[in-house]
Amino acid sequence: MKQICVVGVGYVGLVTAACFSDLGNRVIALDISEEKIAGLNRGEMPIYEPGLEELVQRNVKSGRLTFTTSYPEGLTGTEFAFIAVGTPSGVDGEADLRYVAASARSIAEHMTSPLIIINKSTVPVGTGDWVADIIRKHQKSPIPFSVVSCPEFLREGSAIPDFMQPHRTVLGSLDREAAEKVAQLHLALRAPIVITDLRTAEMIKYASNAFLATKISFINEIANICEALGADVKEVAIGMGYDKRIGPAFLDAGLGYGGSCFPKDVKALAYMAAEKGRHPQLLHAVMDINDDRRPMAIYRIKEMLGDMQGKVVGILGLSFKPNTDDMRDAPAIDIARSLLNAGAQVRAYDPVAMNMASPQLPGVDMMSDPYAVADGADALMLITEWNEFKQLDLERVYGLMRQPIIFDGRNIYDPELMAKHGFTYRGLGRGYNGQKLAETSLFTTAS
Ligand code: UDX
Repeated sequence: MKQICVVGVGYVGLVTAACFSDLGNRVIALDISEEKIAGLNRGEMPIYEPGLEELVQRNVKSGRLTFTTSYPEGLTGTEFAFIAVGTPSGVDGEADLRYVAASARSIAEHMTSPLIIINKSTVPVGTGDWVADIIRKHQKSPIPFSVVSCPEFLREGSAIPDFMQPHRTVLGSLDREAAEKVAQLHLALRAPIVITDLRTAEMIKYASNAFLATKISFINEIANICEALGADVKEVAIGMGYDKRIGPAFLDAGLGYGGSCFPKDVKALAYMAAEKGRHPQLLHAVMDINDDRRPMAIYRIKEMLGDMQGKVVGILGLSFKPNTDDMRDAPAIDIARSLLNAGAQVRAYDPVAMNMASPQLPGVDMMSDPYAVADGADALMLITEWNEFKQLDLERVYGLMRQPIIFDGRNIYDPELMAKHGFTYRGLGRGYNGQKLAETSLFTTAS
């Protein structure tokens, strides 16, 4: 059993704290927000993440996981301190490091024994060295410490399985011994561990997210071309995905990427490159293609509905992706606002994100279920592919709507089935007029 302090109880911090305590370590999760810590001590989660509440409760009960706002309490007897605070985007896309700096400073001021400081937050390349400088500068007396970068790759909505079964663990440090100690902490996860230098580890995180964002923008570009040429991007992605060099993941065309990571990380990488005089052309194209997806959805719905004044448009799904209530950079916000600006009446339903979304979407009526959204609507726009939207009672939806128009921003419906039910249906990159153009089947020679 090791003693670990995790600074920051956001997505990354709380999941890290809960999972490391579940692996048998003693974990103190620290945050300067009295409100968040008081909530956690009452058993209330500051975020929605499947399985997190049970995991936290179980480990609190066992005594392995505690919460505090006090650095002295968090650091006493601790060998490892994880920094997992937010790194929002600054005005030009540069990462805003004020929370990282503040936590490094507090760690320095309160550490009383040798410490390995591990950075989990996504930080610009070179931040590890900068954190080490802050620690040195603010220590009351020189106590040995090392800085290790351990970027987090978890996805919201599947953060716990992602933590427990990672594809790999990346560790970067100038102190090999410290990196190996952190590797020991991760051995139970039975995943490959890459140990490299600090800057390279920091870069691996940006390069990974930028690559995944590129895959999404690539398939969205292909979707646009499919639409023009009468091909079906969903079938194209299936056909491409069987090539092991390409792989099937992250080839879902739709409204593009949102959330707290991809938009900010691609921007930050482009910013870092430009600062050093490089011209990251591909990253700019990735961002441009993504930025076009939301206005394109509005363009499509206007094509189908004509004048938007007084039209009732229903939105299915608000969060930036399913299984989370996170509204950060969610396409639904821009889309709903554009609909309102065009004079439409907008209503919406999301299984978990309505409370988070409401303050950002005044003027949008939040409904109790998808059928209440459909009732009297001139069009439905599927924005987030929650499972519960995949098997709607289409006959009922058709009967409720004033006009049977469906825009499917995530290509979850079968165009042929929608046509059979009488809907005027538009997906993205799926050929002309909602006609299903191809049926991709897999034939094998094995009997
Ligand atoms: C991402 C990375 O996957 C994770 O490794 C990193 O630590 C944080 O950023 P997350 O933002 O939680 O995780 O979501 P993810 O599931 O990766 O999806 C990101 C965005 O891409 C979502 O908006 C999603 O809708 C979109 N997406 C994803 C697509 O549009 N098409 C796809 O094929 C896949």
